[in-house]
Amino acid sequence: MKLLIINGPNLNMLGIREPDIYGRQAYKDLEKFVLDCCTDAGVECEIFQSNHEGDIVDSIQSAFGKIDGIVINPAAYTHTSVAILDALKAVAIPAVEVHLSDVSQREAFRQVSYAGMACIKTYMGLGFDGYKQAINYLKQYLEGKE
Ligand code: DQA
Repeated sequence: MKLLIINGPNLNMLGIREPDIYGRQAYKDLEKFVLDCCTDAGVECEIFQSNHEGDIVDSIQSAFGKIDGIVINPAAYTHTSVAILDALKAVAIPAVEVHLSDVSQREAFRQVSYAGMACIKTYMGLGFDGYKQAINYLKQYLEGKE
């Protein structure tokens, strides 16, 4: 079983950007955390980060036929990108949405999630742990489908 973990714009600035909201750990710490979670869960994974909407769409499209499940934190594109929503629908790979912060308690413009409309589950406000929950949930979900 292979998962694709996608992180959107500005998540490469973790540790520097708004630490009171996103924490003090760096993006490389998140990558290590995710890799360790996947090892513990016994799943293979690829991790992709981009600040560019089209590159995220390309990465979702390239997953078709190769990847069993997607964990995605589209970051700001969550609230704007119909293109990412359409890409997730196009490949129809089971996807779980993650947000480090609890977007439900933040600004009004963060209350819409386009990507979330194509996801089977959302974890928010759990920091790095949201990725762990998403990986474990997807693994169980995909095993149930086998
Ligand atoms: C985020 C929440 C988004 O609203 C924001 O634009 C981000 C990060 C999160 O992980 O909490 O960049 O997706």
